[in-house]
Amino acid sequence: MKTVLLIVASLFLSCALPAQKQTTFRPATEWPDTEGKHINAHGGGILKKGKVYYWYGENRPDAGGSMNTGISVYTSRDLMNWENRGIALAVSSDTLSPIQPGCIMERPKVVYNKKTGKYVMLFHLELKGQGYAAAQVGFAVADKPEGPFRFLRGLRPNAGQWPVDFSQKDIDEALALDPAKYANWWTPEWRDAVKKGLFLARDLKGGQMSRDMTVYVDDDGTAYHLFSSEENLTLHLAELTEDYLDYTGKYIRIAPGGQNEAPALFKRNGKYWLITSGCTGWAPNEARMFVADSLWGEWKQLPTPFVGENAQKTFNGQSTFVLPYKNKGFIFMGDIWKPKSLSTSQYLWLPIQFQEDGTPTIPYREEWTLKDLMK
Ligand code: GAL
Repeated sequence: MKTVLLIVASLFLSCALPAQKQTTFRPATEWPDTEGKHINAHGGGILKKGKVYYWYGENRPDAGGSMNTGISVYTSRDLMNWENRGIALAVSSDTLSPIQPGCIMERPKVVYNKKTGKYVMLFHLELKGQGYAAAQVGFAVADKPEGPFRFLRGLRPNAGQWPVDFSQKDIDEALALDPAKYANWWTPEWRDAVKKGLFLARDLKGGQMSRDMTVYVDDDGTAYHLFSSEENLTLHLAELTEDYLDYTGKYIRIAPGGQNEAPALFKRNGKYWLITSGCTGWAPNEARMFVADSLWGEWKQLPTPFVGENAQKTFNGQSTFVLPYKNKGFIFMGDIWKPKSLSTSQYLWLPIQFQEDGTPTIPYREEWTLKDLMK
């Protein structure tokens, strides 16, 4: 009888006390979903369909660095209150699958392809038991934004292709670099060889390494995969085919040897802005920024957009995505990683401000609302 009463009482309480509605953004805190549980969608990105926002991210376990569930999806209409819609792309029970439990799936980004009517997900894929050595990109596709996504394949991009801005002389020079001569990393000679394409040439046949990443769809519907390649030393920006499921073979390198990770790309008033981090694993570092008039470059490096106390550590966060909001402004989305328990990693969402000349600036805010974007 007592147990029955307890169950009835707890049922009543859980109905009577719905999860508290979020009315502001509060970076670096717990962010409860509509059931009151901390959102588990790390290294994520957002797709808007109609009035609904879909937030995809890494569904991380409480302990350990590999996956046992897959990619989460949450939905919201106001960007503050998120409903857990489950796993959009699930790990596979097939022991031959590249996405079996124990693999690593990071930084998923989903885009909608108007021509095919499909939702396409790209993510960083590492194979079970191989640490971060595989350095692949995974492709998955769905008919609906909430999934289920079907895994297509994992691969290293652009096998056999040189960057479009490589002349025959550049190709010859890269091919002449003897890897055995550069076994010692970080020497001035090694840095020079990296810039000239030491790892590009090494990986030409099997495809280029692909780790931290984002996907960007330009106004004309062409999609681009932007990823940390060449041992995380150089970013590659690669054009995708019309169905977004493969590469056209057209790509450029950005900041060769510059060690950029966590790319987040957006366009404002005809200029492309790119925010990245340095390479210090889960530990925060100072962000970087780049600007270009065309995606194909030239990309010019600028100082970090973050300003104020602890800006040199990006307020303990790392970029993952920039979300345009209704032509009114842009939201910077980042992760505050908690490597001991990745599921508890927090979020750093902040409104981006723009200086008179258009340069982004991101000061810290303990609490803010979408109205702060409209100023
Ligand atoms: C970071 C990267 C994360 C994750 C982590 C693993 O540099 O941005 O996405 O890969 O390293 O140590």
